[in-house]
Amino acid sequence: MIGFTKDRTTIAVVGAQWGDEGKGKIADILARDAHIVARGTGGSNAGHTIIHEGTAHVLHQLPCGILYPNTLSVIGRGAAVNPLALTREINAATDAGMSCHGLRISNHARLVTPIEILIDRITEAEGSAIGTTGRGIGPTYTAHVERRGLFVNDTLNKEELKKKLQHSVEAVMPFLRAFHPGTTRRILGADDMEKGAFYKDPDSIFNIDAIIDVYREFARRFRERIVNTDRLIQSNVGKQKILLEGSQGILLSIEHGTYPFVTSSDSTLPGLAEGVGIQSRDVDHTYVVAKAPYMTRVGDGPFPTELGGKTSAQWCKNNTKEREIEEYPEPDINSDEMFERGVAIRRLGNEYGSTTKRLRRIGWLDIPLLHHALTCGGGFQSGRASIILTKLDMGDTMDDVRLCIAYHYAGKKGYAIGSSRLLPGKRMCVAPMDQYALANSTPLYRECRGWKCSLRGITSANDLPRALLEYIAAIQEYAGDDVKIDAISVGPRGHETIAL
Ligand code: IMP
Repeated sequence: MIGFTKDRTTIAVVGAQWGDEGKGKIADILARDAHIVARGTGGSNAGHTIIHEGTAHVLHQLPCGILYPNTLSVIGRGAAVNPLALTREINAATDAGMSCHGLRISNHARLVTPIEILIDRITEAEGSAIGTTGRGIGPTYTAHVERRGLFVNDTLNKEELKKKLQHSVEAVMPFLRAFHPGTTRRILGADDMEKGAFYKDPDSIFNIDAIIDVYREFARRFRERIVNTDRLIQSNVGKQKILLEGSQGILLSIEHGTYPFVTSSDSTLPGLAEGVGIQSRDVDHTYVVAKAPYMTRVGDGPFPTELGGKTSAQWCKNNTKEREIEEYPEPDINSDEMFERGVAIRRLGNEYGSTTKRLRRIGWLDIPLLHHALTCGGGFQSGRASIILTKLDMGDTMDDVRLCIAYHYAGKKGYAIGSSRLLPGKRMCVAPMDQYALANSTPLYRECRGWKCSLRGITSANDLPRALLEYIAAIQEYAGDDVKIDAISVGPRGHETIAL
């Protein structure tokens, strides 16, 4: 069953897809027994929904350890910290009765400033959009690589903060001046940007003093919690129960995801471990979480198994949940139209972004991509990782479910991937991590029969319907034997999890 043991004191939870796999619930099950819960990648772009004691909590930057008063919750060095959004989240958590006493923030975490948020939003609005969450995450990591980034530590030192902000503003000004001043002003006037307080005038754009005031207030309030978290984690490996809580999913990793439609941190296990100051070999066990029978993606990018293909991608980009409910009051989950099935699954699974409220695109579980997630970056070692399939109960009323077992290449003849040349019709069992090739891959499906019964309330694998066991066995067969499917989740609550 899912949990810590004598030999498994450091455990990681990572998503195998494009985020939103239901990691929050799995992390929460483990957090109950953990001494430390740490996040090491991403920032307020993430959104974990956790049902805790009957109440749903959506956490963004805060680790789920926050739900447990005696647990240390660490925001690690590799994370991107937005002080304003974090303060709001902490206030909301405190109002909901949680204690933030155990919160520790790395002094070395990357600092998100209004400069990066503006760059993110202006690029999405008028530049090369990929459908980001608009939380300034990409530009924050970019600033770091360009050696002009700020750290949380800078909020503690007023002079340094001012100097670095000025330097950063100077560096990005030529880029920002290319946009209409009205756009800049509008974006900086948003509610979550202190309603325009950070805007000065069309020439200087930023009111640096106002940014300093707000960031210094954060430092004053949380000074005691800003520490060297690398050391904190390193000194407790093997001694305390440590949970590493992944953000996003492997397919959104800047290193191993479906580039360029990815986030800007490395959401694989090595990225997560590095982000909290340790290495993957320090992690005793990893739970790799994947949704089935369908998976989702928010934002742009190739999605070979998407139900309704391009029509779905367009629909999700241009519509809201309210509009969808109006247009499709009662979508049929067994419709002949795959697009309509996708709408029905989205409604049933409440697949609307917890951070941005966007419609999540729906597609069948894709084994070539799962294969990639399990093997990229050195892969997971047999016995040190297992798969948890989530949301299987969403398939309860489906007459049949499709499982994508391979692709046929459908692009131009001779497209090169390294030394190989792709020919139309070529069968691929592992997804090509190349934008063109992936966008030109058509899925080959195995049809599986639906189980047509409610999984809710089942607590033992012995009681699972045969059709479901056949479906799970097919996933295991095609995904390979190295990493076993350990458990399935059949509802949002912790106890609705069945060990296999
Ligand atoms: P960014 O992380 O805001 O830069 O967005 C880059 C891509 O990652 C976009 O397609 C986002 O929709 C996606 N993304 C970022 N965070 C999450 C998440 O927590 N769940 C799902 N998608 C995400």
